[in-house]
Amino acid sequence: MLDKHIITTLQQISGKDHVLTDKADLICYSYDATQRQFLPDVVVHPGTVEEISRIMKLANEEKIPVFPRGAGTGFTGGSVPTAGGIVLGLTRFDNILEIDEENLVARIEPGVVTEDFQKAVEKVGLFYPPDPASLKVSTMGGNVAECAGGPRCVKYGVTKDYIIGLEIVTPTGDIIKTGGPTMKGVVGYDLTKLICGSEGTLAIITKIIVKLLPLPEAKKTMLVLFDSIDGAAQAVSAIIRGKIIPTTLEFLDARTLDCIRQATDLDVPEAARAVLLIEVDGDREFLDKQVAKISAIVQPLGVVEVRVAETPAESEALWQIRRSISASLRQVNPDKFNEDICVPRSKVPEMIRKIERISDHYQIPIVNYGHAGDGNIHVNIMVDERVPGDHEKAEKAVFEVFEGALELGGTMSGEHGVGIMKAPFLDMELSANVVDYMKTIKRALDPNNILNPGKIFPSDVKTH
Ligand code: LAC
Ligand code: ZN
Repeated sequence: MLDKHIITTLQQISGKDHVLTDKADLICYSYDATQRQFLPDVVVHPGTVEEISRIMKLANEEKIPVFPRGAGTGFTGGSVPTAGGIVLGLTRFDNILEIDEENLVARIEPGVVTEDFQKAVEKVGLFYPPDPASLKVSTMGGNVAECAGGPRCVKYGVTKDYIIGLEIVTPTGDIIKTGGPTMKGVVGYDLTKLICGSEGTLAIITKIIVKLLPLPEAKKTMLVLFDSIDGAAQAVSAIIRGKIIPTTLEFLDARTLDCIRQATDLDVPEAARAVLLIEVDGDREFLDKQVAKISAIVQPLGVVEVRVAETPAESEALWQIRRSISASLRQVNPDKFNEDICVPRSKVPEMIRKIERISDHYQIPIVNYGHAGDGNIHVNIMVDERVPGDHEKAEKAVFEVFEGALELGGTMSGEHGVGIMKAPFLDMELSANVVDYMKTIKRALDPNNILNPGKIFPSDVKTH
């Protein structure tokens, strides 16, 4: 529990209406998509950057942890208040400040919902590609903090490739700017890139300068149904080897398709044991050629059917299958562990085979889907927490999946980050001197370990 005078000071800083202490309110800010819950002592929704600066100074004086929070859609616990303290919500920072059509740059606040931002720039013929599955809810500040990915990243890159400047509040309460609106800039360390993906441990993001692209003229979506996962995995490698980088190259395995059939009435033929959702974009006349080239490459690899969308509605129907995955999987198994390993793209078939072996060995279903074009696989371990021993088996399987990805030169997280979920495994991937280097940065910038403590680096925080 926090001392009464802290609550009173927070009320003086941000106004009584923006400070929540009722348990019912606190519960709303206690979890994210990991379903792990930690109750904060207080939730504050500051309205200005100066208020945030004052809150951070207070938190340092009183040694109270602060947990910045966007929409709480993260998959690794980045925003959950593992040590109680203050949840600092950024939803009031929800303005698109400027879309500069001359320079193809936008300035926005962190609480802007990702999809709202995309729609706003598309209205003027511009394009912000990163498209995490949570884009209808997630906010840009969270996207930057986690360096969000998504299906379009195979062609266009991830969030950090578009963030060229920031305004931040440091862990000790200073307000500083990093980077700027120019397309180039090499004066000093690249702090913008350091903050991007730092999972809320180094700064509170209060403004974001985003680089934009011209909106491609058109796009074409195709769904390729295969009779085996091996065919689909080989098709991914063959497309990339064929020097084609589609806008999206997503795959769904047989168990994913089974879950979708079970949870929805979407049209997924029984004969399909794996699916690739492929989209290409660019000038209209170029798209049919791309589709034909891709069809020719995949055809010998056990194709059951190729569906090419001719209208936006048909394209939407194909995307519906991809977008239904998360909800379908959760409906079939609310306890599942969702991992997001990433391997060199040519290693996708080998990684899939490794996962199948792990699944057989532990007799635990593993459902795979994801951004195959990036080598980024969402590995869903279908643990049944009601079955004694299942949890332990699933944990061993997770360990082996990480081990397998690392053996192939991969990483244990392509887009969801470390947070609290992968922190215990950090030293599998990073050597001790690398972890030390990172911790030195954290200690230097946050000497009291006030900002989002317990994330990324292993600690003794237990989830409950
Ligand atoms: C997705 C999320 C889980 O791609 O990253 O669906
Ligand atoms: Zn993803």
